[in-house]
Amino acid sequence: MDIYNFGKELIVKAGQFVETRMTKEFKVDSKSNPNDLVTDVDKETEQFLYTEIQEKFPDHRIIGEEGHGENITDTKGVIWIVDPIDGTLNFVHQGENFAISIGVFIDGEPYCGLIYDCMKRDLYHAKYKQGAFLNDQPLAHAKNEPLSKSLIATNPKRILREATKDSFFNIMAASRSVRSYGSAALEFAMLAKGQIAALLFIKLHPWDYTGGQIITGELGYKTTDIHGNELPLLGTTSVISGNPEIHLDILEFFKNDKTLHDFHDDFHNL
Ligand code: IPD
Ligand code: CA
Ligand code: CA
Ligand code: CA
Repeated sequence: MDIYNFGKELIVKAGQFVETRMTKEFKVDSKSNPNDLVTDVDKETEQFLYTEIQEKFPDHRIIGEEGHGENITDTKGVIWIVDPIDGTLNFVHQGENFAISIGVFIDGEPYCGLIYDCMKRDLYHAKYKQGAFLNDQPLAHAKNEPLSKSLIATNPKRILREATKDSFFNIMAASRSVRSYGSAALEFAMLAKGQIAALLFIKLHPWDYTGGQIITGELGYKTTDIHGNELPLLGTTSVISGNPEIHLDILEFFKNDKTLHDFHDDFHNL
């Protein structure tokens, strides 16, 4: 079985693991601050993904939010970038609206992207240059709508800082309206379905965006950091994703806004 088909089966199996595991008691801890939560289910699901991938492909490497691959510093060979639960706060508070996200790269080049909405049992998937699908249905190509006629998604908690709030206010005010769903992966999935037209994040990690970037890239959406640079596979970054027109609209805001532009380096410390 090839990596793509194995990945599709694996992510659904991991989703079943989460669904079963969450019915039993699990521990909730905090990480960098009291609002940054992690549960036993996050950790066990990452371990499940790690073990299954290693068993099938012993020479592949795995980077996960909950600790796997922390020492990886190059992108040679096959790398799986996994977020066992994207939207942990939703998982803890709502028991839904979270996803598993996987991006697979070969020698740093995209190979396939997978996002599984566990509770809806919806699988978003794409193999590079072969189109993107929701379950068995092909997803439609991006429509070119301007920011003024679009819904955009972001994480308000991160942008409500003295130094950035006015600049972000201007971008939001220029849109039709703003949404915040609490899972970057599911927000990429909504972009793929055409339900929102852009995402704007101050700080994400590769496990938050690689799956979604590959899937939406197949549909003509563009994803970069706020300077228009390609996103890294290691480290953290800001993220703008949207149809090419709206992506340009948002980039223009950053070009013309000195406060935001200068603040960029500090995004990493948020
Ligand atoms: C988080 C979610 C959230 C985004 C945060 C991420 P996690 O991932 O994707 O939408 O705004 O920046 O850290 O921690 O729930 O996997
Ligand atoms: Ca987390
Ligand atoms: Ca995440
Ligand atoms: Ca996570």
